[in-house]
Amino acid sequence: MKYSFKFKEYDPKIEGIYGTILTLGNGHIGIRGEIELEPTIYGTTIAGVYDYAPYFYREIINAPRVIGIQALFNGEPICLSGQKLLNYERELDIEDATLKTFVSVKTQSGAKIDYESIRIVHGKRKNLAILKFKIKADRDGLLTLISPIETDVANPSYRNEIMIKHYNVEELEESKKGIYAGVRTLDGKYKIEIASSLVSEGNIKRTVVKNTKGITEILNVKIEKGKTYEFIKYIVIISSEDSNLKDKAFQEIEEARALGFDKLYKEHKEYWEKIWEKANIEIDGDDQAEKGLKFSLFHLIQSMPKDSKISLTARGIHGFGYRGHVFWDTEIYALPFFMAVFPEKTREMLMYRYNNLDAARENAKLNGYKGAQFPWESADDGYEATPPLIPLDMIGKGVVRIYTGEEEHHITADIAYAVELYYKFTNDDDFMSKYGLEIILETARFWASRVEYDKEKGYVIKKVIGPDEYHEHVNNNFFTNLMAKYNLILAAEYYRKAKELGGDWLETVKRIGVNEEEVMKWLEIAEKIYIPRQVNGVFEQFDGYFDLMDYTIDPYGIGENRLPEEVKRNLGKTKLIKQADVIAAQYLLKEQFDLETIKKNFDYYVVRTTHASSLSMPAYSIVASWLGYEDLAYDYFIKCAFIDLHNIYGNTQDGFHLATAGGVWQILFRGFCGIEIKGDTLKITPRLPQKWRSVKLKFFFKGALLSLEIKNDEVKAKVINDKSAKISAFSKDVLLKPGEEIILRGEAR
Ligand code: BGC
Repeated sequence: MKYSFKFKEYDPKIEGIYGTILTLGNGHIGIRGEIELEPTIYGTTIAGVYDYAPYFYREIINAPRVIGIQALFNGEPICLSGQKLLNYERELDIEDATLKTFVSVKTQSGAKIDYESIRIVHGKRKNLAILKFKIKADRDGLLTLISPIETDVANPSYRNEIMIKHYNVEELEESKKGIYAGVRTLDGKYKIEIASSLVSEGNIKRTVVKNTKGITEILNVKIEKGKTYEFIKYIVIISSEDSNLKDKAFQEIEEARALGFDKLYKEHKEYWEKIWEKANIEIDGDDQAEKGLKFSLFHLIQSMPKDSKISLTARGIHGFGYRGHVFWDTEIYALPFFMAVFPEKTREMLMYRYNNLDAARENAKLNGYKGAQFPWESADDGYEATPPLIPLDMIGKGVVRIYTGEEEHHITADIAYAVELYYKFTNDDDFMSKYGLEIILETARFWASRVEYDKEKGYVIKKVIGPDEYHEHVNNNFFTNLMAKYNLILAAEYYRKAKELGGDWLETVKRIGVNEEEVMKWLEIAEKIYIPRQVNGVFEQFDGYFDLMDYTIDPYGIGENRLPEEVKRNLGKTKLIKQADVIAAQYLLKEQFDLETIKKNFDYYVVRTTHASSLSMPAYSIVASWLGYEDLAYDYFIKCAFIDLHNIYGNTQDGFHLATAGGVWQILFRGFCGIEIKGDTLKITPRLPQKWRSVKLKFFFKGALLSLEIKNDEVKAKVINDKSAKISAFSKDVLLKPGEEIILRGEAR
């Protein structure tokens, strides 16, 4: 596998986009791709480190910048903005997770300087990042290198002009081996300890400067014309809720220095080799699709947290979009990839929800409900983090009122759904009996208290926002009601299972005190929950939706810009929807519908969906593929696969669209490869796009590591570990034993 992405255009206006797409991360540290030689507002993201913020409850902090280097030659800056740029190239290699930079500049006084660097955020050593760089000049002179830990970076607030610095600097210190900054978030919860050391060949004099901007190492080197000089900046970032890990930070720097770049890089490379051994997917016949898919997976994997303190956020460790909050994006769009490819990591991400179950219980109570209600947006403590309003200007004249935190309740069922899907993929009884079950039961309790009884309709759910956020305060949103019903039935089934199995299962039931009577009530509600009416086979998205003003659009278009002003201003009064809603329910709960019904709904809603949310196209693409709408399915797949590379939504600078990245994998998996879990069997119904000759992929199914090669008329399957797996394709069922390979053939659809 060799994939690198090269960028040759330097324009400060698009640096923010490069910043996101060239981000390197290891699930703990995220370092954006802005070039190290120029200043930027972006520092470092550290997964799970949040602080209180006006309007956004808690936001991920913009921690000190560590990757920056200022270089001067005879006093003139080696930078891109002030000198003549002769050559510029950035290269992101996703195979070994490195970012290379090549720059040549001619300074005002005519010196030509070549600069070359490679950076890594170490895969295995979670606290370590390294920047190695080389400099060559076409004349003798004095090279000055300024290598700071910049403790003056801050978060842009609701307006970019308002910056909020989320930490206090507690200590700046130098030692023989490097420099150190100890900072603490304003709420006192997190200590971040950063050490760095700039290493050069020979014995070069080093000075250290401390000031309000941070702490800086400065090297002055006499360099000779035509000779290349190499430097390595080692960086260690430790975050903890403990108080003082300064010694550990210095010790890790020393360790890194002793091992040296080559050994550390080798380790990093091996780490990524192992990652790709599992995650690699080959698409024979479509390099473009494969490239976009791998780029998406790379960024998704880089965001995979190192522990269960936080889960995947909407924009990854790549930026501050959505303030580093966790949404349904994680469970519904991103996690299925991890369930199949990195199941042990998925467990940790689901544990983030379990660990925050008490906060979800409080949230339910606060809103007058029972059980556990997960917040629509969640940060490090699991409390509701959605801003109720966002000011539009500095004097507070205009505000946007945001109702999603109060009304977008489907997330609670989405999390229960994901817990069940994880169990279907893994059979992880330990997780399910001790933790997953509790989530499913407590969320069912929430729904049982959330519904109201209506004499005509049965159980109804009033005043919600469905996935389509254009319509607020609606009653009986199809997606919400159906998912709530699913959640209730799931809870009843798992309650029965727990009774049957005893042990940890029953312990959990006892711990939260569910009894037969409560379960009977859940089943009664599930049976009588109102599902919006169907007209000509089409489900009404919510009560009254069909009475709204009709407006249809080109299904191949994206966003609201194509709409007339008048329509844009009145979206809530029209039938236009922001993203898959009825179709999202049909994609998640496919087994509840026949294809004919799905088709009717798809045909109706696809021309009324703006896809203004990046979560829309994945669901539509999967369903389009089931329906044989190959062109549309493929078009959405490609758009999703290049969403950030091509800045399709115009907001790539705010971070990577992780839900879409997970969606790209799901389009391939559930759509084109047609892989479904049916009980204990994996069913494969290939529907590859015409030009795809085959797809090769690996993933875990109930402990068995499967290697599949899928063609439209053939499925080759092998189990490559010591487990067995039941698979089915072209109406043939087989039990695959460890090491066994079979080929199933049939007619292409
Ligand atoms: C979408 C939500 C999504 C959120 C975060 C919104 O624009 O409508 O479905 O969860 O963005 O990605």
